[in-house]
Amino acid sequence: MQALYRIALLPGDGVGPEVIAEAVKVLKVVESVNGLTFRFQTGLIGGSAIDATATPLPPETVAICNNSQAILLGAVGGPQWESKRPELRPEQGLLQIRKRLGLYVNLRPVKVHDSLVNYSAIKPAYVKGTDLIIVRELLGGIYFGNPRGLFSKNGERFGVNTEIYREHEVERVAHRAFQLARMRRRKVTSVDKANVLETSRLWREVVTRIGRSYPDVELSHIYVDNCAMQLIGRPASFDIILTSNMFGDILSDEAAMMAGSIGLLPSASLGERSSLYEPIHGSAPDIAGRKRANPVATILSAALMLRYSFRMEAAASAIETAVEKVLKRGVRTAEIPGRGRAVSTSRMGSLIAEQTAKLLKSERTRKI
Ligand code: IPM
Ligand code: MG
Repeated sequence: MQALYRIALLPGDGVGPEVIAEAVKVLKVVESVNGLTFRFQTGLIGGSAIDATATPLPPETVAICNNSQAILLGAVGGPQWESKRPELRPEQGLLQIRKRLGLYVNLRPVKVHDSLVNYSAIKPAYVKGTDLIIVRELLGGIYFGNPRGLFSKNGERFGVNTEIYREHEVERVAHRAFQLARMRRRKVTSVDKANVLETSRLWREVVTRIGRSYPDVELSHIYVDNCAMQLIGRPASFDIILTSNMFGDILSDEAAMMAGSIGLLPSASLGERSSLYEPIHGSAPDIAGRKRANPVATILSAALMLRYSFRMEAAASAIETAVEKVLKRGVRTAEIPGRGRAVSTSRMGSLIAEQTAKLLKSERTRKI
């Protein structure tokens, strides 16, 4: 019997469905060449779920996710839902699914291949050799702390959010960062604001303590404002950047510009029992339905899924190499600057799928 892998697809809003379709195209290639079966089940999330069911994360979607080994998500959000009450906004779907599935660590790799340095928003001499992973804590900090809310007193409104970090929350994400560093260049840079925030002081202490169990990994600490600067000035010197939920959110968008386009970068959100993979870009409502979205970030997210959830390293690297080869040929989608005509979302997906098939087949022949 063929091996069977259960994947939940949550296309979401805006360009989400378009980019998910291209990732599925590439996964089907892996399926047919490698002789295995992916069973896809599609669920609603975000604005499209609000429209259909009046909630951003319907119970059926949670059931589909619980019944799957991995989840591939497109994007959520759009201007038509912006006026909704906070608990009814599309982003809540994403935040709730992270919470429900216990996805406490978010990996955001940023790799700038030599052949692609010219796409970068930063001068090639600075960005060359950049290969880092942002390890972002995903279930704590100011995103989830209580009290929170909008209140009013003496006729004036005020908003409250609370940053809380408990020791175990820092410990578990720190372990993941150090373990990952061991598979790479053995360098962890922990990012905080310990000169101002108590949560950051705790963060720094805990990370330092956990770091003692990994004496072979070099640990340094840096304030977040300085890190924002160093990321532009010396991006290639970072290996693992370990940071909190909010700082990771901001720094990962900044780091995305190293690669030239946010449309190129994947992410993996991992917990103890489930994993979710998604592009780091949003729903891009301005280009939705116009065949202009870049499917690369989602295709690379599918590659991360094969690597981390299904231990299919060869297939994951085949997809990554296929993406690199196609981009190297100068093929680009509309948001990437360059000469020549930009291709459509589905053309980009097909070219990567064809290239992946070629690579996987030549690997099989080599083995035989
Ligand atoms: C991200 C996004 C989300 C976040 C939003 C959509 C809730 O910006 O995944 O980076 O802030 O975590
Ligand atoms: Mg973000």
